[in-house]
Parts: sequence; C-alpha cells; structure tokens
Amino acid sequence: MDKLLVHGGHPLRGVVTISGSKNASLPILAATLLTDEPCIIRRVPDVSDANYMLQILQNLGASVERSSGTVRIEAEDIRPVAPYDLVRKMRASICVMGPLLARLGEVTVSLPGGCVIGDRPVDLHLRAMEALGAQVEVESGNVIVRAPDGLRGAEVNLRGKHGTTVLGTDNLMMAAVLAEGVTVIEGAAAEPEVADLADFLIGMGAKIEGAGSQRIEIEGVSRLGGTEHAVIPDRIEAGTFMVAAALAGEEVELRRVLPRQVVAVTEVLRAAGHDVIEGEGRITVRRGSDPKGARIVTEPYPGFPTDMQAQMCALFATTPGISVVTETVFPERFMHVAEMKRMGAKMERTGGTVVIEGVEALSGAPVMASDLRASAALVLAGLAAHGTTEINRLYHIDRGYEHIDDKLQALGAEVERRKD
Ligand code: EPZ
Repeated sequence: MDKLLVHGGHPLRGVVTISGSKNASLPILAATLLTDEPCIIRRVPDVSDANYMLQILQNLGASVERSSGTVRIEAEDIRPVAPYDLVRKMRASICVMGPLLARLGEVTVSLPGGCVIGDRPVDLHLRAMEALGAQVEVESGNVIVRAPDGLRGAEVNLRGKHGTTVLGTDNLMMAAVLAEGVTVIEGAAAEPEVADLADFLIGMGAKIEGAGSQRIEIEGVSRLGGTEHAVIPDRIEAGTFMVAAALAGEEVELRRVLPRQVVAVTEVLRAAGHDVIEGEGRITVRRGSDPKGARIVTEPYPGFPTDMQAQMCALFATTPGISVVTETVFPERFMHVAEMKRMGAKMERTGGTVVIEGVEALSGAPVMASDLRASAALVLAGLAAHGTTEINRLYHIDRGYEHIDDKLQALGAEVERRKD
C-alpha cells in the first residue's frame, strides 16, 4: 500500500489547474446506460472511483474506451445485475440503479455497506423507485427492483432526517427521464453535480427543468440518444487547494474553477482572515497576516459542504483562537480528529460538533488515512507541521484526487509517494 511523506514548512506558491469533478463524473458515467448510442465524456478525472465505475459499466456489457480524460461509452447490450465485488468497493455504484431500471425494467445491485463516515442508507432511493411504480425486494445483501409494467411519473419528496440525498436525486432523475408522464422532485439536492447530470441528460434528449434547485420537474420521453459533454470542475478539489493556500500560504492561483460553486468556502476563509480574490474561471488565495478562528455548520448545497469539513479542521488546528465545526450531514464524519490530535491538535468532539483551540504548530507523525476527505485533510495538516507526516493507506486519497502529490509538489510542497 502506498504512503505519502509530507515534509512540512514549505510555503505554497504558484498555479494549480483543477480536474474534472469526481462527483459529477460518477452519475454521468452511469447515465450512459440509458441509451444504446455512443456517449463521449471529457474531463473524467483519473481517480480510482471513476475507474471503478468504468469497470462496472464494462461488467454490465457496455463498451468503454478511454484516452486520458476523454471516455467513449456505448451501452448497446447490457445486463441488469451490477457485480457485487465491484459495487461493494464504492457506495456511489448505487447510481446505476435508476438508469438500469429505466432502460431494462429491472436491476439488481448490492446494498452499499456503511463506511467510516457513517451509516450509508438508501431508503430514500428505494422509496423514490417505488413512487414511480417499481417493486423493491432486499435479498441476501442485494436490492432487486422491478418495473414489469414500466415506470410512471409521480411527485416525490426526497427530504430525509439529514437533509436531502445527492445520489438519490440522481437516481430518481435517471429513472424518471424514461417514465410515462411527469415526475416532480420536491426537496431535491441542489448540488452543481446534480445540475451537471441534468445537462448531460438534456443533451441525450431528456426534458428536465429546475435542476440545481430543490424542485426538479422531469417529463418522461420514449427514448434517449448519445451526446457529448465536458464534466464541470471539481469544487471540492478546488476547496481543498484553497484551504492548502490559507494553511501553508503564501499564495496559490487555481485555474479552471467556478468561483460561484465555492462561495461557502470563500466566505469562511475570508471570515478566518485570509484573502480570496475571485476572477473569471480562477481564484487566488493568499494566507492572511492575522488569521482568526471561525465557525462552520455543514449543510446541503449551497451551504458549507460536508466534503470540506475535515479540511477546515486542518486549517483551524493552527489558527489562533477558538473555532467550532458542526457536521449535520454525516454526524459521524470525524475520523480525522483523532489523527490530528496525534499531531498535537487541540480538538474536543461532542456529538456532531468539534471545538478546536488553535495551537502554534502541529508536529509531523505517522497517521492513518480513513476516508477520502479525512486523508486529504491530513495531507494539509502535514504541509505546515514541523517535521514529516507519514500518511498510510494512500488509496483513500487516490479515490478522489487526481495526482494530488504532483500538484502539491508543483506548488513547492515537499511530498513524496513511497510504494510499500
Ligand atoms: C454524495 O454522497 C457525495 N458522493 C458525497 O461525497 C457527499 O458527502 C454527499 O453527497 C453529501 O453532499 C457522490 O456524489 C459520489 P447523500 P451521497 O445521499 O449521495 C442520508 C466524497 O467525499 N441518506 O446526499 O451518498 C445519508 O446517510 C463523498 O466525495 C439517507 O438517510 O450522500 C446522509 O446522512 C463522500 N437515506 C445524508 O442523507 C438515503 O436513502 C446525505 O447523503 C440516502 C441518504
């Protein structure tokens, strides 16, 4: 298993180009199952989650060709059973459910296990499929969904106890595009990745209005065709580099980023005393001369993203004063706290809230990566720590960050990947 050695104390300066969004790519790749015509998707990041999804599509019978960031998929003759051994590796595989049900009238996909950021239920997904007239069975770890008489449009409310569901909105949208009649999604996820999926589906001939808001209306059509699409930039990768600049400073310019999609991160960094300059397709972040603690509460978009919570904890660990971080989307998402405390951070967790007292500096230590964003946060913590931080189980980072070590090195960080 690869590990990453981060030698702290090297200020970051320069330009980084943001990759295509992992969380937009995954449902868009799944949406190619909705047609037997070829689809071309550009800016698919070279991350293991995207590669898993491509393997799943191939296993389902689609032909997949990839040349650097461009993927060509033709799902002419496909099967309704997603392979357990691949699906269990990535929870997001659940988003093949909607397209397979819409295209074939049935789908078998294994129930995603939980993961370190918490229990990962799919009750809202299944309730949505039933609302469109499908029958749902759960049998020996698999969920089997059938719609022998086809799918019919319905009004569906996707609000759950922790807010709405992003992949649940994606699944419902991808089932509804071929359903008979109109589907209205109330309490839809408004994330930009949902809007990007809708743009892809509209390019295939779907009729969708309101994607990117909490109310989406879909008028079913009889068939969909192939299309071409470039995936939006990864706003969480962008946020991660913005925090890296504030934490390890001096100044970093991000290219191929949409400032309006990272407003929540921009606002917190400014409140914490750092400079964020927004431009056309670019953002420059400069570490402030007088940083101070801040408070964040994670919420569905456009609120502060849960996927940026761990990275903010890394920043607040060495920000003078008290910071308070409240996680409302995944209340268990604090695997990074124990590891940062090993580096000398002062953090006290009570339920879904962590109170952080900034210290002068963290000290490098061997730490354990646990999930994608916690691992990225440990890399950030290592950038400004005294000494060397050794991050084990690097595969967690490779799931969602394209060549993060190369990008950090190009900004002046001293990081080295060690193959074990
Ligand atoms: C997506 O996961 C993202 N993944 C996650 O990013 C992100 O953290 C999450 O949305 C929230 O923004 C992808 O897009 C591939 P949810 P998703 O369904 O859709 C509960 C990363 O780091 N819930 O919006 O699986 C759930 O337990 C990943 O890139 C139900 O109760 O998340 C959670 O508390 C991690 N029932 C909340 O809703 C359901 O049926 C939000 O989950 C579904 C979800």
